[in-house]
Amino acid sequence: MSDLTPESATRSADEHEVDHPLFAACYDFLPEPEALEAERGYLARNLSGCALELGCGTGDMFPFVVDGTAGDLEYHAIEPDPNMRKRAAEAAREAGLAVDLRDARAESLPYPDDSFDVVLAGVVFCTVQDPDAALEEVARVLKPGGEFRFLEHVGADGWRGSGQRLLDPVWKRVAGGCHLTRDTVTRFVDHEALAVEEIDRLDDGVFPATPIVRGTLRRRQDGVLG
Ligand SMILES: C[S@@+](CC[C@H](N)C(=O)[O-])C[C@H]1O[C@@H](n2cnc3c(N)ncnc32)[C@H](O)[C@@H]1O
Repeated sequence: MSDLTPESATRSADEHEVDHPLFAACYDFLPEPEALEAERGYLARNLSGCALELGCGTGDMFPFVVDGTAGDLEYHAIEPDPNMRKRAAEAAREAGLAVDLRDARAESLPYPDDSFDVVLAGVVFCTVQDPDAALEEVARVLKPGGEFRFLEHVGADGWRGSGQRLLDPVWKRVAGGCHLTRDTVTRFVDHEALAVEEIDRLDDGVFPATPIVRGTLRRRQDGVLG
């Protein structure tokens, strides 16, 4: 392992616990939209150097990371939900992946500036409590020139968007805090320290967690950090 400093994640008093035992127990049995499953390889392609996965859940990415490793890889993951984290630790063992797995939130990452070559987020920005703070942290911990790869479902237009706004209050209760309506792409594109390499809208997936968008941003060499 490199010299990443193991600081403990700090939590302010108003941050509620991320603790969804039922959602974690069901997560691996929920039907994953084909568009998501097919794209996990996109997130994990040609990984080498130092990589961080945000909100790794039950570790569904880990087998793809094993397949996608293209050189020396030091893999880190954070997950604040203890139920998810326990399953992720088992998944790492089963996949034969050495993971430095920590209890932390994307909004307050326990790593120094400029630590990672790649940061991965797979359906996480729908769920984090403060997506703007989380994106600031991604830009902070990426090395200049490092990649932020994401796969997210985002708010839809038209009747789907109206349906999402109606369902959102119930959905976030049953789906571990997931929001259906976030404008995640605009948030990413607007960040001054991150340059867009590519963003693709995939097929419409399964309503209401649709459309699904994947992309890669790169930390600018001279990027302005907030
Ligand atoms: C929809 S699940 C996705 C899990 C995994 N990334 C995957 O691809 O299957 C969202 C995950 O984000 C986690 N999460 C919730 N709040 C978070 C936060 N503030 N920072 C990081 N992860 C968070 C949840 O516990 C959950 O594991």
